[in-house]
Parts: sequence; C-alpha cells; structure tokens
Amino acid sequence: MYINFWYPVCLSDELQDKPVKVTILGLDFVAFRDSNGDAHCLSDVCVHRGGSLAGGLCHQEDNTIACPYHGWRYNGSGKCTQIPSLGNDSKIPARAKVDSYPVEDKYGIVFAFLGDLSEKDRPPLYEIEEYTAEGWRANKTITIDINYNYERSVENGLDPAHNEFIHPTHGFEGAKNDYKVNPTQITDTDWGANFAQLFDAPPLDKEIYGDEARQESGDLTVFGGYHGPNTLITQIHTKQDINWFHQYFFEQPINQFQTKIFFVNMRNWLMDENMDSMIMERNMAIANEDIVVMNDLRPTVTPPVSTKETLVPADLIIGKYRSTLEDFKNKGYKIDTKELKDKQHNTAFSIPCPDRKTEKNWVLDPIPLIKGK
Ligand code: FES
Ligand SMILES: [Fe+2]
Repeated sequence: MYINFWYPVCLSDELQDKPVKVTILGLDFVAFRDSNGDAHCLSDVCVHRGGSLAGGLCHQEDNTIACPYHGWRYNGSGKCTQIPSLGNDSKIPARAKVDSYPVEDKYGIVFAFLGDLSEKDRPPLYEIEEYTAEGWRANKTITIDINYNYERSVENGLDPAHNEFIHPTHGFEGAKNDYKVNPTQITDTDWGANFAQLFDAPPLDKEIYGDEARQESGDLTVFGGYHGPNTLITQIHTKQDINWFHQYFFEQPINQFQTKIFFVNMRNWLMDENMDSMIMERNMAIANEDIVVMNDLRPTVTPPVSTKETLVPADLIIGKYRSTLEDFKNKGYKIDTKELKDKQHNTAFSIPCPDRKTEKNWVLDPIPLIKGK
C-alpha cells in the first residue's frame, strides 16, 4: 500500500451532517461536511488523548468537528479551535492539530489525497473526460466490498486472459480450438500505463442489450489501464466507434486484505435511465464471477518476487503494473505494513499531510514507510 495518491473516502451522498469514519491503508480517518457543503478529511485520532473524532458531533456554527471524549473542536484544516477544559478565550497549544488532507468531491465520491506532496508534485486524481460530456450517461456510483487485496483486484481488471474462462458472456469458455491471447499494446502514462487489447468476443445477448447490440462474434477492442496504484480503467468498445461502456474502479484499500471498490460506470448507448438497473445488474453478475475466483487466490497479497508465480506473455500488463508499483516503492511511498502491525497497539500513526512540509509540532508519528532509493 502506498501514500501520496488519491483515495476514495466515501460516497458524496453518504456525507451529510454526521461525521463518517473510514479505514484506509490500515489507518482511521474522519470525513465531515461544513455548513458550506465542503467536505473535509482528517486523521481520526484526537491528539489530546486519542479519541475517535468520528464519534463526535459536527458543529455547523463554527464548521468544526468535536471530539466525543472532552469536546476539543477541530476545523477542516485540522487545527484545534477550542479546548473546553481551558475555559473561553484560552490559548490553543500549537500541537493541538491533526493531519488534514486535500479533498475532491467528484463522480459522486469524496476523495482525499493521502500524503504530504505539495500540490505541484501530486499525481492528479484520474480525470474521466466523458463524465459530464454530451452523449454519455453515468450510473449512480456504487461501492463493492471485497475480501481481498486491492492490487490483486487491479491485476484482475487488467488481465486479458481470464475473460475467456471466468466470464461466459465475454468468451467461449475455452471451447475454441484457436483460442490465444493477442499481444497487448501498452503505452506509458505519467502515473501508470494504458493498454489496447483485441479480443475475439461472442455477440452480446440481444435479449438484454436490444437490437443495437453487436450481433456477430468477432473482434472487440478493450482499452484500459491503471493510474497510480488504485485506479483501474476499462473501456469496452462493444461495437467499434459506436457502443461504448467505460468503467472506472477507484479502489480503497481498507487494509492489505480488504478493499472497497468505488465503481463509476459510463456508457454512450442504451441511454434511457430505465436501462441503469439492468446494466448495473449485469455488471454485478460479472463482478461476482471474478470475486468467486479472487477470494481463493494464494497468497492473498501478491508475492514479493515474480519467481513465486509463472508469468507468461498474456501477463505483460500485470508485470507492467508491478513495475510501476516498484517505482512508487523506490520513491519512498510504500507503507511498511510489518512495522505498522508491530507498533500499532501502542502507537497511533498518521499519514503525513501536506502541512507537515511547512509546519512543526505534530503529535502523531508518521506512518512507517519503506525507505526509497
Ligand atoms: S481525547 Fe479528544 S478531547 Fe480528549
Ligand atoms: Fe473479470
């Protein structure tokens, strides 16, 4: 797991007048909305004596969240503005602050940048160009909870060889004698890679997708890729240049073994809103076909060296993803999960926020990281 990327925190409409507690990358965060409707994300650990801010109340009159234990109030920048035990107009110690993370409210999701990079050095949140474009429709963003590692999940989404076997509607279930995975065309991007992959695909079910659907089996190109460690892009062009499904997974690693996927589904056909539920039903049926197999992968987390698996040419994009993760590790972004686990019982860690670059007096230890190269 890596700091310094954008992570989905919660669905935008989950965040109303109460704080929301979430665990991401093995640590706790609190999200809340102020009276202007702006979302905020803070480290959840009160620096007084460790209360969980998410158990407290949001105060609209001063746009703060109050710790449930002794009522210390923190604003959206993470600064404590009031310590009730000191009485009114008391001086607030400089140490009375928690990490506050940059937030974007987009695609029906509240995202937080969990890291300390300044704005100019930060990888951007993935831009879904067609999200508000004419001729496109988005399903309501949903979440999918899975009990496996997010990197395993991203690799599954990138994998061109599994469709034939896992998804009866995407392939021929291994029945075609000339089955072979076509070479994957890969291009580098700033924080990941894109691919183009040609499939020999069966026709789409006319009963489900109607007359517009591709009626013959044959070539189908899927474009996709990954952005950072946790954003997966799948663009299925079911009929070349006409009927497109674009799917985006923003993955929230709760910890190494559990993941919440925030799923944005776009399409430029079947535009009637009555089609939304049918399309989501189909998507969930396909996702569940993956989940059954993914639940049983061993080891649960990708092995540290690739010699503990047997990669073949159809795994090219998987290898590419792993080498990008290696780059992030070399930059010093990788969390030392072993040290975290060893110390978490008596140390409340925090992911350092951008303010730590310019301010002193932070109470919580920064999350342990593997030294970069
Ligand atoms: S622990 Fe939060 S106010 Fe005391
Ligand atoms: Fe799949």
